[in-house]
Amino acid sequence: MTNPSGSFSFDLVIFGATGDLSLRKLVPALYHRDVAGQLNDDARLFAVARGDMSDADYREMAAAALKEHVAADEFDAARAERFLQRFRYLTLDAQKSDDYLGLKTALDGGDERIVVFYLAMAPRFFGPICTQLARAGLNSAEARVVLEKPIGQDLASARAINEAVAAAFPENRVFRIDHYLGKETVQNLMALRFANALFEPIWHRGVIDHVQVTVAEKIGVEGRADYYDHAGALRDMIQNHLLQLLCLVAMEPPNEFAADAVRDEKLKVLEALRPISEREIGEKTVRGQYGRGSVDGAAAASYLDELGHASNTETFVVVKAEVETWRWAGVPFYLRTGKRLPMRHSEIVVQFRPVPHLIFPAAARDVVPNRLVIRLQPDEGIALHMMTKVPGPGGMRLRTAPLNLSFAEAFRGRQPDAYERLLMDVVRGNPMLFMRSDEVEAAWRWAEPILAAWTAQDDAPKPYNAGSWGPSAAIGLIERDGRNWHEDMR
Ligand code: BG6
Repeated sequence: MTNPSGSFSFDLVIFGATGDLSLRKLVPALYHRDVAGQLNDDARLFAVARGDMSDADYREMAAAALKEHVAADEFDAARAERFLQRFRYLTLDAQKSDDYLGLKTALDGGDERIVVFYLAMAPRFFGPICTQLARAGLNSAEARVVLEKPIGQDLASARAINEAVAAAFPENRVFRIDHYLGKETVQNLMALRFANALFEPIWHRGVIDHVQVTVAEKIGVEGRADYYDHAGALRDMIQNHLLQLLCLVAMEPPNEFAADAVRDEKLKVLEALRPISEREIGEKTVRGQYGRGSVDGAAAASYLDELGHASNTETFVVVKAEVETWRWAGVPFYLRTGKRLPMRHSEIVVQFRPVPHLIFPAAARDVVPNRLVIRLQPDEGIALHMMTKVPGPGGMRLRTAPLNLSFAEAFRGRQPDAYERLLMDVVRGNPMLFMRSDEVEAAWRWAEPILAAWTAQDDAPKPYNAGSWGPSAAIGLIERDGRNWHEDMR
């Protein structure tokens, strides 16, 4: 299926091909992989959706998506044209068995051929589509299915989806996407921890005080208000992206860099997360919702204005998570995410403990504990903040200064988008960077009581102005513990 240069023959069927995710992320990612030479001449792309449309109509739609979402200096009209010719459009109603027979005829590549079914649809369709694919005999040994997050709304719905999918496809051919795992810096976390002897000996409660994970977004809910209002920030971001980041920081070293070895270790972390009880909900979580404000100097509407009706959905969350293991007992992981914050910025901050005994009493106020900051976006890099002497004669003056590794400077060239990597991993059949069913369920097992407690206490989200760092209670939560949010986000 592959040739020595790492290009592939495969069929990719995108369900929900006219949707936002497909046009914004998948079509551009495939274009880039095609330009990189990873798609063999006979690789075929099938766009599937409910509406009637010709191949030419879809190609036009995909061309517009490329123009919008591929950087101008990476867009090549002739290559784009050749790429678009790979697409065929098929009308398919996900609930109608007959339509799958049409799909089978169109595919008709034999059982040896790799076929990827990418379900860029709402999770309620995952089970029914997989059942139909199996009924039509489309779950051959080389067929695999990709599920977009969120997998369900809660533990019960996630289990139901996992079971329905498992009846049609074995686990090693089910790829549950969490695109954060495809981000370069996120993978780099594993390199940082397990390819350097430096960090592992200090990676524990004896030396680390706490960890902060922040995923701040400037955007609001854009055109996705319908989906988002049923989800909210805890389901949309914390249950998956932020917990996955926590897992990569907290997991024990896997014995090999192999899919199940890594996923087993992540699962252990999820299972060790301390449940948050209803009594603790006010102390360990904050939920917020953006009101009117200003972002980048321009007036920004409130969440409710965008939605057009009343809602208690949170667009901002802080959770103080705890991992109950020998390594992490007493080390809080503060998770924070929100929309309409002042900047797009994601980072993991590992805050070390203070020095045990200070020999520079005159500089006592200047000495701050070390911090390792792993910047995920937009400017990917790693900075280790250390105390140094301010140059010059006179007294011993100290200041913190960063040892800074910027990926853009260290590794020139384009950074592929997470979806490019993940799509090709599906084709290669490598599930390492995908969530296993038990991971998803363990994450829900922890998240669900938080949602339930908010509902039980009728906890309305606290308002914050668009363009601010969330409600003041978010600052209160960490300050009560004698700590502060990392603010220097350059
Ligand atoms: C998605 C969420 O999974 O991740 C969105 O559904 C969010 O609400 C997005 O905006 C953030 O991804 P990124 O890669 O832009 O940080």
